[in-house]
Amino acid sequence: MGNAHPLSRVAPAAALDVAALRAQFPVLQQSIHGHALAYLDNAATTHMPVAVLQAMRRFEECDRANIHRGVHTLSQRATDDFEAARATVKRFIGAGPAHEVVFTSGTTESLNTIAQGLWAGGPKTAWLRPDDEIIVSGLEHHANLIPWQHAAQATGAQLRVLRPDREGRLHVADLQRLLSACTRVFAVTAGANATGERPAYEEMLQLASEAGALTVLDAAQAASHAVPDLSRLACDFMAFSGHKMYGPMGTGVLAGRRAALERLHPLRLGGDMVEWVRYDSAAWAELPARLEGGTPNVGGAVGLAAAADFIDQVGRAAIDAHVHALRAQAVAGLAAIEGLTVLAPHATSSALVSFVATDVHPHDIGTLLDERGIAVRTGHHCAQPLIDHLGRGPTTRASFALYNTAEEVDRLVAAVAHALKVLR
Ligand code: ALA
Repeated sequence: MGNAHPLSRVAPAAALDVAALRAQFPVLQQSIHGHALAYLDNAATTHMPVAVLQAMRRFEECDRANIHRGVHTLSQRATDDFEAARATVKRFIGAGPAHEVVFTSGTTESLNTIAQGLWAGGPKTAWLRPDDEIIVSGLEHHANLIPWQHAAQATGAQLRVLRPDREGRLHVADLQRLLSACTRVFAVTAGANATGERPAYEEMLQLASEAGALTVLDAAQAASHAVPDLSRLACDFMAFSGHKMYGPMGTGVLAGRRAALERLHPLRLGGDMVEWVRYDSAAWAELPARLEGGTPNVGGAVGLAAAADFIDQVGRAAIDAHVHALRAQAVAGLAAIEGLTVLAPHATSSALVSFVATDVHPHDIGTLLDERGIAVRTGHHCAQPLIDHLGRGPTTRASFALYNTAEEVDRLVAAVAHALKVLR
């Protein structure tokens, strides 16, 4: 074992009152196997503060009704709540008059809605045609890769991968080489869930947009601490989930330029998304209703908006600085352990650390950490091609949120060192 202790704190904790914030999260107030819960699986899902729980409870207890179709008071209140939630989300992501926000069940539904919606209306209206090109970054979660594989197979378009280097970095020059007059779509993450890499997505989206492509940003890992600002981006479509930003599961957002969203053939066909219907045909309603067929998760949208407000009340910059400091502390501590390799050690603008240890399977590390009350995630993190590309096998990943502490990171590093001693 290397000399992992005492740990040097790489950066002072940012100006968050973490103890006070932590007290607002009921699920964190428990012990696991006799140890205080150290929840370090926030890239998979974050927890909800009382403010979010109360907002959803108030909706369910006071205003719950189906929206848009009712003249009665509860239906009108529920409609107002839903549209107020949309307005809050628009503010949160810098959406202007040329943008729209559609509520979905999560990032996966948002990305599928884009990738299928670009061709599902048939060859006459399809944005993707044979020999067109789709460029997807090699850092992506399966949710921003498989829908594009499917779109390519369905349309005859070619899928090109913007491959990262051996350390997991994307290079703008590589994108420049791939872009051509055939490029119709460019899809990239704002933060890689498996490694923490933060690509230069602003510049990449700009270049792809200038080349004539529609641009897609997976903001799932950024929304909780570094939400991309649509007003400053050449971004046609952006996707993220409520449950990774202190909001409820089963909620998400598909946001973007109205002109781009209007290109999408709706996939959820049915009630509330039509202008008129005859037995043999129908016409779609205006955005956003056109992409929100069926009864939406109104309480969930209320919760997602409350989560956005919560993030802004705490302060985006302070959250970002806090999680970066925790990541830096974890990288310093873990990298000092013999035989342990941190992936993407250069990725300082990250809220997570992913690592491998020689001769030890991550599932075994994760199991021993759980025995000490420490929750991490192990495996391929739904990013198998990236993990294969990096050639190091499955990883152990610790991911940080505003309620995590430097003491929890100390516990993580000590528990990993202990686990490796036991397992070797
Ligand atoms: N996408 C989630 C993760 O990275 C589940 O863990």
